[in-house]
Amino acid sequence: MPLLFAQGLRKSFGETRAVDGVDFFVESEELVSLVGSNGAGKTTLVNLLSGLLVPDAGSIAFQDTDITAVPVRDRIRAGIARSFQLVNLFDQLSALDNVRLAIFSRDGTTRQVLRLAERNRPAREEALEVLRDFGLEDKWDTPAAGLAQGERKLLDVALAYALRPKLILLDEPTSGVGTREKGTIMDAVAQLVRERFLAAVIVEHDMDVVFAYSHRIVMMHQGKVLAEGTPEQIRADERVAAALLGKA
Ligand SMILES: Nc1ncnc2c1ncn2[C@@H]1O[C@H](COP(=O)(O)OP(=O)(O)OP(=O)(O)O)[C@@H](O)[C@H]1O
Ligand SMILES: [Mg+2]
Repeated sequence: MPLLFAQGLRKSFGETRAVDGVDFFVESEELVSLVGSNGAGKTTLVNLLSGLLVPDAGSIAFQDTDITAVPVRDRIRAGIARSFQLVNLFDQLSALDNVRLAIFSRDGTTRQVLRLAERNRPAREEALEVLRDFGLEDKWDTPAAGLAQGERKLLDVALAYALRPKLILLDEPTSGVGTREKGTIMDAVAQLVRERFLAAVIVEHDMDVVFAYSHRIVMMHQGKVLAEGTPEQIRADERVAAALLGKA
């Protein structure tokens, strides 16, 4: 069985079939890109996988355990972490404290969390290490609000990584940043996959980025999977070309 295995997923909002009978899997140590035009259902699928939404039908298994009805908190414990399409940072807190908060939330300590973090040296060391993994160590003391957009997106991925997941779901980790910063963010993700043996699902619009970094690509269109394959296969798929040009 793959690391994550979803079958027959459906989710409607009123008349809109956002996810309409999707089978989806992720192998260990695999980097899968989820692509498709606006409204294709990518974020909804990520929400179903992370537990933010409950499917109308279908099932999700993670490491051979059915998690279809398991709440977000327990999915995080099981090893599924995510970032959001819009970054989710505490703007007044430093980069370091943002990571420390993620570490504490992972360990279930939610009250007086920063005062605790202040006294907790291992968490500080671990948070610094996470920042180092993402090349943000020089910015440890900078409030998140004072970071450049690319650094904010990078920090957002770092927070998901600080939960020590086996699978990381990243909804548009490079949106709104320049080409060079996109490379920095994707290099960091690819390095986690390669060196820390994570699996990653990345929602991404930039097909150059998708082709350069993915092991496998899943293309959605109007709630369904339109095509799936290696970058070479997807590049050669005429339906994909048509959908990308908005002609499907
Ligand atoms: N909470 C919601 N309530 C109502 N409709 C929703 C909701 N979430 C998503 N939808 C609708 O479901 C469809 C799929 O949306 P979704 O956000 O999953 O697409 P997406 O592929 O992530 O698009 P984008 O590339 O713009 O982020 C769209 O038609 C959207 O308007
Ligand atoms: Mg989306």
